[in-house]
Amino acid sequence: MPSVLITGATSGFGRAAAYRFAKAGWSLILTGRREERLKALEDELGSQVEVLTLTLDVRDADAIAQALKNLPEALLPLTCLINNAGLALAPEPSQKVALRDWHTMIDTNITGLVNVTHAALPLLIEHGAGASILNLGSVAGQWPYPGGHVYGASKAFVQQFGYNLRCDLLGTGVRVTDLAPGMAETEFTLVRTKGDQAASDALYRGTTPLQAEDIAEQLFYLATLPAHVNINRLEIMPVRQAWSPFAVDRDKT
Ligand SMILES: NC(=O)c1ccc[n+]([C@@H]2O[C@H](COP(=O)([O-])OP(=O)(O)OC[C@H]3O[C@@H](n4cnc5c(N)ncnc54)[C@H](OP(=O)(O)O)[C@@H]3O)[C@@H](O)[C@H]2O)c1
Repeated sequence: MPSVLITGATSGFGRAAAYRFAKAGWSLILTGRREERLKALEDELGSQVEVLTLTLDVRDADAIAQALKNLPEALLPLTCLINNAGLALAPEPSQKVALRDWHTMIDTNITGLVNVTHAALPLLIEHGAGASILNLGSVAGQWPYPGGHVYGASKAFVQQFGYNLRCDLLGTGVRVTDLAPGMAETEFTLVRTKGDQAASDALYRGTTPLQAEDIAEQLFYLATLPAHVNINRLEIMPVRQAWSPFAVDRDKT
């Protein structure tokens, strides 16, 4: 059976992807920090497919290396890595942001993604043709917006890291894709606003954001493309989201 390692499987895109891949019979390696949520997923999906849960912080390089070194044979070689764990913090302007929030985004979205990728690369290369690394980028990695600061920059890193990986992986058969969603309704805004449910509800109210299942469907599509096809970047937005004109600072009259 093909196997998929999903980081950040306790919520949002990662959780929906766990259901989508399980539906197709894939073996699952699910990670996140919230153990009780991982346990609930294991209880629910474990009767359908092989499920291994690893309670991990992606910022802990040693724990990740250790865990991936000791994967059961039945889950190897690894068919797909979904680098999904990530977060945005501090929606206010740069000049008002606490430095630790910038560090947390860099440590999670950049260092964490690099930690997992480094540990998983040998397992994917062992699989060869048909293996994939699917990185969750964002429209924020391409398009600037107020309050995007380090979050957008971290997703620009994800895009370029993926492109560079493709150069090094040429000849191994391992594919790399930057899947870059726009507005999607998950716990993302609750995390960004540090638990402000009203702010999260307000952002998604009166429009039709992407749902986690929309992204899970794209992830499954990317992972099951013919082995000779690599989609480098897939940007996906709700129909009801688009760009704005440039902002201009004008003299007050
Ligand atoms: N929602 C959007 O509008 C949107 C748009 C574009 C891109 N994205 C990206 O998509 C990815 C998933 O976001 P989402 O919308 O599904 O958000 P979400 O519902 O908040 O889920 C985020 C997941 O990341 C995990 N995570 C966060 N920090 C972690 C850490 N240090 N170690 C391990 N796991 C960690 C969380 O698990 P634990 O808390 O249990 O560790 C959770 O499972 C992120 O990379 C995000 O930047 C989201």
